[in-house]
Amino acid sequence: MCGITAYKGKGDASFVVMEALKKLEYRGYDSWGIASLGAEGIIETVKNVGKISSHTETGLRQSSVAIGHTRWATHGGVSERNTHPHFDCGNEIAVIHNGIIENFDELRRELGGRGHEFRSETDTEVIAHLIEEFSSLGLKEAVRKAMERVKGRSAVIAIKKGYDGFVAARTGSPLIVGIGENEYFVSSDIPAFLDHTKNVMYLDDDEMVVVEKKPVFYSLKSGGLVEKRLITIDWSADQAEKGEFEHFMIKEIMEQKDTILRAINQNDSEIQKIANEINSSFGTFFTGCGTAGKVCFTGQYIFSKIANKHVNYVNSSEFPNYEHFLRPETLLITVSQSGETADVLEAVKTAKKKGVKIISLVNVKGSTLDRQSDHTFLINAGPEKAVASTKATTAQLAILYLLAYATTGKIHEGKNLLLETASKVNDMLNPRYLARIEELAKIICKKSDIYIIGRGLNYPMALESAIKVQEVSYIHGHGFAGGELKHGPLALIEKGTPCIVLTAKDDVFPQIIGNAMEVKARGGYIIGIGPEKHGVFDYWIKTPDVREASPIVNIIPVQLLAYYLGVLRGCEIDYPRNLAKSVTVQ
Ligand code: F6R
Repeated sequence: MCGITAYKGKGDASFVVMEALKKLEYRGYDSWGIASLGAEGIIETVKNVGKISSHTETGLRQSSVAIGHTRWATHGGVSERNTHPHFDCGNEIAVIHNGIIENFDELRRELGGRGHEFRSETDTEVIAHLIEEFSSLGLKEAVRKAMERVKGRSAVIAIKKGYDGFVAARTGSPLIVGIGENEYFVSSDIPAFLDHTKNVMYLDDDEMVVVEKKPVFYSLKSGGLVEKRLITIDWSADQAEKGEFEHFMIKEIMEQKDTILRAINQNDSEIQKIANEINSSFGTFFTGCGTAGKVCFTGQYIFSKIANKHVNYVNSSEFPNYEHFLRPETLLITVSQSGETADVLEAVKTAKKKGVKIISLVNVKGSTLDRQSDHTFLINAGPEKAVASTKATTAQLAILYLLAYATTGKIHEGKNLLLETASKVNDMLNPRYLARIEELAKIICKKSDIYIIGRGLNYPMALESAIKVQEVSYIHGHGFAGGELKHGPLALIEKGTPCIVLTAKDDVFPQIIGNAMEVKARGGYIIGIGPEKHGVFDYWIKTPDVREASPIVNIIPVQLLAYYLGVLRGCEIDYPRNLAKSVTVQ
């Protein structure tokens, strides 16, 4: 996590970097810092605990080179001392870093033994001291040698007193180079520089870039030159802004009026080709983390229901434990908004070792996952900035439906269902609907627990609902399969405990209503979500009847409820505490 960025060019470098950090704040917002190369080649620094959004000036002098960092603490608490950039002993080398240095204890002891003095508790600081040890070789070689010693996934940017440029290296965490007109950017994510350029080059693992006059790429292992492809991004800077909305989250929820349609605008023959591969594979695995993982879990039900086909869902962090079931004929389908989630990339590594083909559903074009996959379906949701995933979720689900229908040779039937669903989502997201959900949020916003139950296709969405409630409102949300309640969780129900019941017009409707009754009999406050009203509901939120596609329409009111609960409880909607949008550490 953490966002890092660097700039060299004609603009006021530290100001450009400050504005870029504001766009990266979703990656970490504990503290921020900038170092710039002043006129005499001297490094000037500013560091602050807290968010960068309210700052309008850096206080640093105008310069043409600067680096900046917005932190999500891993090693060392949130303090000015631990805020990046970190320095070598002589304050001549400044380093920013995103990732985790696995052998940092060992390196710190070793460097300490050679007389290096540490001024922070971070793992990052060892890099500055390692670069210092090799600094007679020049910054490029010094960074390369330093990175040879460092284990784990990282992205690092360094500047040095008197050196008119910067050096960046990647060993696992994302780094993208933006190519402007006589100005160059390096950043953990594209929105950082979208205002300036849409032309990018991606650093791959074990590569570095030296930006002196213009970017030159090298292999970290051999030090030899590497050729890179220029990619033009089709996102606009506006898409990454809040516009008329108060928060990115509500903007992104409302965008689902369009994003489901955009997601299904796929090349039918590609969908059919992958569907055929699913049919002939020796087992298909779906993997992802958090919300994307819950999409994969829904995929298991979608394939069962629509295609009568068994696929396996495994959470990415657990995927290496399934290594023994993989064969070259196995297929791995990964789902990830960012395409940078470390556990997903690790799952891909595990699968590739066994010769498994990788198919991915990704939102960020050119992301590591996109580049490492044999085939990618871009979900086309546009930039998703709020930490809580919303529009990416429904777009990913839509593509899984297409694939499932295509395995039965009925892709057009699937497309029609999704067209109908998209149009009903458009109707649903109206001001009256939002007001009804806000009214519910007012009724339950003081509660400390919310339970969510579902069955069949809506069981994984009960788990996803819990994630939304937890991260946006900080209320303890917990999702269960309806049938599991009486095997333990029912003991938690007290008078007035809210329980959301996800329903559809399907064959498990009588059972889920039965579960709702069990909760009600213990005093629970029942919130029904679904197309049909029932007497057991204390509060009902209607969703359209879209048959098998019910998970898509049922999750949207929960996203809205989590949003209004968060607003009423004064939470940081787009930047929940302790979380970051892109989880690039395992
Ligand atoms: C929750 C949320 C996270 C992500 C997870 C995976 O709302 O957004 O649980 O789903 O961190 O991220 P991606 O999809 O980027 O791999």
